[in-house]
Parts: sequence; C-alpha cells; structure tokens
Amino acid sequence: MLFKKKQKNKTETENVDIKEVVENSGLTHIAFIMDGNGRWAKRRSLPREAGHKVGAATFKKVVKYCSDIGIDTITVYAFSTENWSRPKREVDALMRLLDEYIKTANDEDEENRVKYIFLGDKEALGEELKSKCLQLEEFTAHYKKTLNVALNYGGRAEIVHAVNEALKSGKTEICEDDISANLYTANSPDPDLIVRTAGEVRLSNFLMWQSAYSEFYFTDVLWPDMSPEEVNKAIIDFSKRKRNFGGVKNA
Ligand code: FPP
Repeated sequence: MLFKKKQKNKTETENVDIKEVVENSGLTHIAFIMDGNGRWAKRRSLPREAGHKVGAATFKKVVKYCSDIGIDTITVYAFSTENWSRPKREVDALMRLLDEYIKTANDEDEENRVKYIFLGDKEALGEELKSKCLQLEEFTAHYKKTLNVALNYGGRAEIVHAVNEALKSGKTEICEDDISANLYTANSPDPDLIVRTAGEVRLSNFLMWQSAYSEFYFTDVLWPDMSPEEVNKAIIDFSKRKRNFGGVKNA
C-alpha cells in the first residue's frame, strides 16, 4: 500500500510501500499501549470519557489499517487490572464502549474479519460482558488474523495464572515452554513491536513475559490522534533495527 505524504512535509514515510516493509521486516505481531485519551480530552476541555470515545474510534481504524497492510496479529491494551481504580464514571464509560464495540465487531466485510481473543481474567467483567466476549471468541475462532484485546489484563497476574495452570498437569517442575503455553497469548507469537503513545516510556504491566525480545517504539502522539502515517513511522523504524535475540548476527 503506497502511503504518500504532503509535498511540503517530506518524511521517510513518503513513497514507501508499507506492505513490502512489513513483509521484509518479518513483522507479524504489533502491539499497542493506547495512552493519552485523557490528555486529548483535557486539551479540548472535554470530559475524559470523550477522549476514550475518540480513542475507541481510532482503535478500530488502526486495527483495520494494520490488518490491511499484512500484519497477522494485533494486540491492544484496552483495560488493565489497575484501571478499575479510576472513577466509576470513567470505568462505566470504558465498559460501555467495549460493549458497543463488541456489538459491531463482526460488521466488517468477510475478508476483513479477525479472530478475537480477550487477554485477561473475564470473571471480573460481569456475566453479561463476559458471555459476550466468550461468544465473540467462539464465533470468530476460524479467522486467520488475530486481534488480542487485553481486558482486565495484567502481565504479572497472567504469569501467575500460567504457572498455576501449568502445575495442574501434576508436574513438580515447570519450564519456560510450560509457562508460554498457558499464557492468554498461547496461540500468538511474541510481539515483534510494541508501540506506546502519549510520550510515556514504560511497559505498565503489559505482555511482560512476551516482550522479552520485542522492539519498542514510543511516540508523543496521543492515542486519539494515532494515524496510519504514525503507524508507518513505527514500522519503518522497526524495519531498521537489528534483532539479535541475544546472539551475534553475521558473526
Ligand atoms: C489510556 O489513556 C487508555 C486507557 C486506559 C483505555 C484505552 C481504551 C480505549 C482506547 C478505548 C476503548 C477500547 C476499545 C477496545 C473499545 P489514559 O486515559 O490513561 O490517558 P491519559 O494518560 O492522558 O490520562
């Protein structure tokens, strides 16, 4: 997909065939920490919930874009185990947005549909939202591309959960593969690239096990303003990294 920039404001993203960059760079899994909804709203003197609403629309566009340019697995951090401590009004608004999103999640044309996997403990979501998540996972299980939505998710809690699941097999000693196989992301490769918006430079309990060899890209852009062009910048930056996975390349 050719992504052209305005002549006046030339950047490296100009005239780049981003599909080719994705393919050649081996980028199969991109993950997003969608930060900055609150600041986006504050700058406009709007309530935080308004930022989340625009953030949810941006989320849909970014997921579609990533899928269109050939990325097989996309993971988003929608709601952390720590986010419950936010004001009730904000938590309710986020849950409503998720509920609305799930209702329309399958409205895409057949060729654009994805397999949904909700990462996290569904128990705290309430019976109704929990069963909607389970249904969506079931109905979309046969699609090839994957969208992981981290919801009531915490990386440390996920590792503890995985260890406990692994121990159920009766083993007295477990190995790394046992943990990986029992993570919520068991069916996804580890993320190649993790993008965090809004200028924060931390992981915030996201994919702690899976990010061992991920590349990171940080941008000051607030999540509601995230665009295909900004995604391209992250991907082009990723394509230039040397990934040695602890070894030595071209030794
Ligand atoms: C962080 O921004 C964002 C969140 C805690 C929620 C992310 C949710 C969405 C993008 C929308 C809902 C998602 C779906 C899947 C429908 P923040 O509120 O911490 O921003 P701030 O740091 O500027 O206050």
